[in-house]
Amino acid sequence: MATATATAQEKNFNKETDEKATDHKGTDMMTPHARQHAKVVQKFGTVIPRLSLGLGAEIREQITAKLNVLLADTLTLRDLYKKSHWQVSGPTFYQLHLLFDKHYGEQAEMVDTIAERIQTLGGISVAMAADVAEMTRIPRPPKCREEVPVQISRLLEAHELIIKDTRALAGKVSELGDDGTNDMLISNILRTNELQVWFVSEHLVEMPLIFAK
Ligand SMILES: [Fe+2]
Repeated sequence: MATATATAQEKNFNKETDEKATDHKGTDMMTPHARQHAKVVQKFGTVIPRLSLGLGAEIREQITAKLNVLLADTLTLRDLYKKSHWQVSGPTFYQLHLLFDKHYGEQAEMVDTIAERIQTLGGISVAMAADVAEMTRIPRPPKCREEVPVQISRLLEAHELIIKDTRALAGKVSELGDDGTNDMLISNILRTNELQVWFVSEHLVEMPLIFAK
C-alpha cells in the first residue's frame, strides 16, 4: 500500500511540475529565448537627454566623448602591460613580469572607473577591441618581442600621453561644472598613472649592481 501511495504522490508531483513548466497559455517557460536580435536602443556618441544630475545633455555629451578617448587609450595601455608581462625577458624578467601584471590590474580598474563614469553621465562606453583600435592615440606595437628598454619606453610614452590628456581634461570638466569627473580624473587616473611612471622609469636608470663607479 505504501508503494501505491508513493506512486500516487509522485504522479501528483509530476502533474504539478508539468503545469509549472508552462504558463496559462501553455507556452514553454523553461527554454532560454536565445538568438534574439533587434535594433539598438541608444546610439554611440549620444547621451540620455534628461538625467537627475544637474548637468545639461550638451555638457555631458562633450565630456563623455573625451572620456571615451581616454578610455580607449587606457584599454590600450592595459593591454600593452599584458603584452609586456608575457614577452619580457632577461635578468630582470621576474620582477618586471610581476610589476607589469600589477600595473595591468590597476589599469583594468581604471578602465572600469572611466567606463562607468561615462555610463553614469548617460553616455555609452567604448568596449570592443576593434572599436578601441580605431579610437586610441597610442601607437600600435609590433606583434614581435622587443628588448626590455623598448618595452619600457613604449609604456612610458603611453603613460605620458594619458597623463597630459587627463590633466587637460580635468581642467575642462571643472570649467563645465562636472566636479565628479574632475575628482575621478585627478584622484584615480592621474595619480595612479604618475605612480606607475615612477615604478617603470626607474628600470631605465643605469645603476651599478656590484661596483660603484
Ligand atoms: Fe600572468
